[in-house]
Amino acid sequence: MRVITTDCLVIGAGLAGSAYALRMAAEGFAVELLALGGPLDCNSDWAQGGIIYDAEGDPALLAADITAASDGAANPAAVAQLVTEGPRAVEEILLDGARVAFDRDAAGTLDLTREGGHSARRIIHAADQTGHAILSAAARDVAASPRITRRAGWVAVDLLTLSHNAEDESRRYEPLTCFGAYVLDAPAGEVVAIVARKTVLATGGIGQIYLHSTNQPGSVGHGIAMAYRVGARLMDLEYVQFHPTVFARENAPRFLVTEALRGEGGVLVNRRGERFLDAVHPRGSLAPRDIVARAIHRELAASGDPHVWLDLGGLAPDFIRLRFPGVHAKCLEHGVEITREPIPVVPAAHFICGGVHADLRGRTSVRDLNAIGETACTGLHGANRLASTSLLECLVAARAAARADAEELARGPTASLPHPRAWESPSREADPLLVRQDLLQIQHTMWNYAGIIRSPRRLSRARRIFLELREEIQGFYRGCRLTPELIELRNAVQTALLVVHAASLNPRSRGCHWIEEETDGASLRT
Ligand code: SIN
Repeated sequence: MRVITTDCLVIGAGLAGSAYALRMAAEGFAVELLALGGPLDCNSDWAQGGIIYDAEGDPALLAADITAASDGAANPAAVAQLVTEGPRAVEEILLDGARVAFDRDAAGTLDLTREGGHSARRIIHAADQTGHAILSAAARDVAASPRITRRAGWVAVDLLTLSHNAEDESRRYEPLTCFGAYVLDAPAGEVVAIVARKTVLATGGIGQIYLHSTNQPGSVGHGIAMAYRVGARLMDLEYVQFHPTVFARENAPRFLVTEALRGEGGVLVNRRGERFLDAVHPRGSLAPRDIVARAIHRELAASGDPHVWLDLGGLAPDFIRLRFPGVHAKCLEHGVEITREPIPVVPAAHFICGGVHADLRGRTSVRDLNAIGETACTGLHGANRLASTSLLECLVAARAAARADAEELARGPTASLPHPRAWESPSREADPLLVRQDLLQIQHTMWNYAGIIRSPRRLSRARRIFLELREEIQGFYRGCRLTPELIELRNAVQTALLVVHAASLNPRSRGCHWIEEETDGASLRT
């Protein structure tokens, strides 16, 4: 088995992972950065709306909006960190560092937009392709850094810990400590061990365990599943956020239709043209996402319609074309001219508010293992995330974690890095049809039984299905040669089970975890 030794192993090359890697490299440390695919194959790249930059605003008002959107469940310390460190992180990393071309007016002032749950205009953006503008700049800087080795198509299999994987068995009595990961080098078809002083989980979200999602392929909670398997503390996994507006035309792909369209005046209407959100929340179509997604779900259940509509009738056609060129072009490609007709939309799985518990320096309950970005749960989002906080969270968390790790690593090694046990690879191929079908079963089950509105009966059905499926998949995993698809399936079923378990144990409807009463008294506890 090939063994690579490094200072930092970063699993995931979206905004959080890239920002951490760049900062550690700038501090003089060697970084191995693992990416499932190309430089832009990550959820951060697909973020449309923008990123909060509230340098002139009132931090207390932003904190109040985050807390209100979270249904009162956000961790005040994490909120305080975001609102106080956020502006500096944006300036340092995006404005002065990467020089991202955000939209500005003729005088050079940054254009500010708003989204649901915000009481002020405080979101900067690059038209409606903000994530792409930021990620392209980060990918350029990563490629130029001599201390970062970016490994495309390398998929982490399992974390290495002293308790499970050190060749010297006596080390298992030391506190639970991570020292890297087994990784599939998919292009070469071999498993290598990357041994690292710090390991960072930055694997993004879980949207692809649902049938309809705004997330990139491969977003199945790799980091959450790996952390679970080594015994790390996880939190708040029942809080899965559904984005209210995803393009929904028959025989067309689903894609995000940014909330900034509502921030600029778009309104959600039903078949009769009624603004049904006005009766639900004082902010109407700009209510927090959990409330909007649930209202759409109920509207569809009552009407039997396949979707509702986002009506842009109040926006000038030229403004739409200029401000939202990406959504305009993509809808047009699928037959909807949004300057003239409303957009058919439905909700889809978007963001996991919970994750691997991390403190405000990214530290998890396992020594030398960090979690940052969507993979982590600092409690910032509580039970529901405020729009346009996710890219900012990536920057703030990556900066804080890198600062703490650089200080620690600069003090020198505390103990020698262990040698991992060799990996044994069976040679039998997994049946690709079974792998594909199992993933579909997970996605359908999550969508129907653990989606926007849950019930005790649906959750316990899902749990039974996943317990059985996990056994089957473990069988493949133990007996077959590893492939990225098999690793994805193994992590997907584990993540699905964790979400369902968390949802089953929480009887309180809050934020984006919503339980409907059942009349026959079926119990929530499993
Ligand atoms: C959007 O543009 O609607 C998505 C932004 C976000 O999830 O914060």
